[in-house]
Amino acid sequence: MRKSYGIIMAGIIILVGGFYLYFVQGRHMPGQLPNLSMNQPSDDFDNQSISTEEIPLPIPPLLKDENPDPNKAEFQITAQNSTKEFIPGRKTETMGYNGDYLGPVIRVRKGEEVMVKVGNDLNNEITTIHWHGLEVDGAKDGGPHSGIQPGETWSPEFKIEQPAATLWFHPHPEQQTGRQVYNGLAGLFFIEDDVSERLDIPKDYGVNDVPLIIQDKRFNADGSFQYKLGMHDVMNGLQGNTMLVNGAINPFLEVPKGMIRLRLLNGSNAGVYELNFSNNQTFYQIASDGGFLEKPVEMNQIIVGPAERAEILVDFSEFEKGDEIQLLNQGSSFMKFAVNEEKQKEYTIPNQLTTIEAIDVDKAVATREFAFQGMGPNVNINGKQMDMNRIDEQVNLNDTEIWEISNDSGMGMMGGMAHPFHAHGVQFQILERDGNPPPPNEMGLKDTILVNPGETVRAITTFNHSGVFMYHCHILEHEDAGMMGQFEVE
Ligand code: C2O
Ligand code: CU
Ligand code: CU
Repeated sequence: MRKSYGIIMAGIIILVGGFYLYFVQGRHMPGQLPNLSMNQPSDDFDNQSISTEEIPLPIPPLLKDENPDPNKAEFQITAQNSTKEFIPGRKTETMGYNGDYLGPVIRVRKGEEVMVKVGNDLNNEITTIHWHGLEVDGAKDGGPHSGIQPGETWSPEFKIEQPAATLWFHPHPEQQTGRQVYNGLAGLFFIEDDVSERLDIPKDYGVNDVPLIIQDKRFNADGSFQYKLGMHDVMNGLQGNTMLVNGAINPFLEVPKGMIRLRLLNGSNAGVYELNFSNNQTFYQIASDGGFLEKPVEMNQIIVGPAERAEILVDFSEFEKGDEIQLLNQGSSFMKFAVNEEKQKEYTIPNQLTTIEAIDVDKAVATREFAFQGMGPNVNINGKQMDMNRIDEQVNLNDTEIWEISNDSGMGMMGGMAHPFHAHGVQFQILERDGNPPPPNEMGLKDTILVNPGETVRAITTFNHSGVFMYHCHILEHEDAGMMGQFEVE
C-alpha cells in the first residue's frame, strides 16, 4: 500500500514536473515564483539533518517601549541583512530584525496606542511588516500594498483592541514572503490584558514563560541557506530537516522544577509539526492563535500548522535535578529541557481561563466559500491566483459572515495536502469541521486554520476594521505562487 503510493506519487511528480518545465517555466504568469530552479534538493543541498553541540536556548529580547506614557507605546524595528553561525565555523547569510536572525518581542497591553517605526536596511530590496493576528485597519496591516523601500521607514499607529494573545510579525512583500521569512525575518508580538495579568499562571518572561519559535531549515554543505526552490518545494512548500528553535539547532533550556508556560509558534515556511514530549507527559493547551481558550485542554500531542500559535502549560515538578525531557516532532527530538533544583512557586492548572462570547450564527449576513485548488505552480483559491489589482471579495464594515473553507487541492491525484488558511485583520471562531464541532483546543480564537485534504471548515467572524486585507494559504511557497486573494472591508 505504502510502496505503491510512493511509486504513483513519484510518477505524478515527474509528470507534473515535465508539464511544468514545458509549459510554465519561463512564461510570465502572475503566480510565477522568483528564483526558480528545477534542481532537486539532492543536487544542490546537503539536506542532511545537522546536529551540533547543545547550546542554551536563545531567548528573544523584549523590545524597549520608547514612549514613557503608560497608555502609549513606541517601538523601533529595522529589517537588516546579517550573518549567523548556526553551525560552528560556517557562516550563514541571514536577515533579522534589529539583530542577526528573527527579532525581538514586541509586548503591548490592550487599550494602548502603539506606534512602530519600521526601517528597511535590507540591501536593495523592498519589504513590508505584517502583524499576523492583529485586528487593525488594512492600511496598518502591513500586507503587500505597504511596501517599505530600502532606506525608508514606515510608521503605522494603531490601538490594541483585542484580548491577550501571542501574535507575530513577518514580512509580506509580493512573491518574496517565503524567502524573507526563511532568511530570518519574523518576531513575536504579545498582547497582555487584565485577564492575562490576573490569571495565576507562569508569566516570568524567559524563565517560566518561554517562547519557542520552531522552524525547519535546509542547509547547504557550506552552512548557507540558499532559498532555491526545486519541484518538490513548489509542490509542498520548502521543508527542511534541520529544526531550529529561536534560531538554534539542538538547544536546551534549564527549567525550574515546577510549571512552565511555553508559547509555541510554528514559524516555518511549510512544515506541519506534531509535537510531544519524550516521556509522553500530559500538558495543557491554554491559548490558541487569538488568545486564551475558555478552559485548559489536556493533551499529550499537539499539531501546529505553519503560522499557528499555541500556549501550553507543562508541569516539570515530578522530576529531579538533572533530569532531561526532550521535545519531539514526529518522533524525533529537536530540543530538551533540563530540570534544575530551583523550587518555584507552585501553580495549579486553572479551571477557567477566560470567557469567549460565541458569535451568534444567526447574525451572519453572508456565507462565502473559499476553495483551495490546484497544485504546484497552479495553486489557487476559487480558481484564481493572486492579482494585486483585483479585489476578490467585498465585505461590509461591521458585518458578521461565515467563511466556508474547503480543500480540493490536489484531490484525486496525490490525495492532497493540508493547507493552512489565514485571513488578515480578524480572528475567527470555528463552527464546524466537516459538519462536526471542532476539537476543544480549536474552540477559541483562530486566525490560521489548517484545512485537511477533502475537508470543509466553517468559521465565523465580524469584520470591524476597514481596508484591503489578504486571505491565503500560509505555506509561504503557495502564497508566493498565488494561493492568495484580497478582500476589502468598507
Ligand atoms: Cu502571516 Cu498574510 O500572513
Ligand atoms: Cu496575517
Ligand atoms: Cu497551501
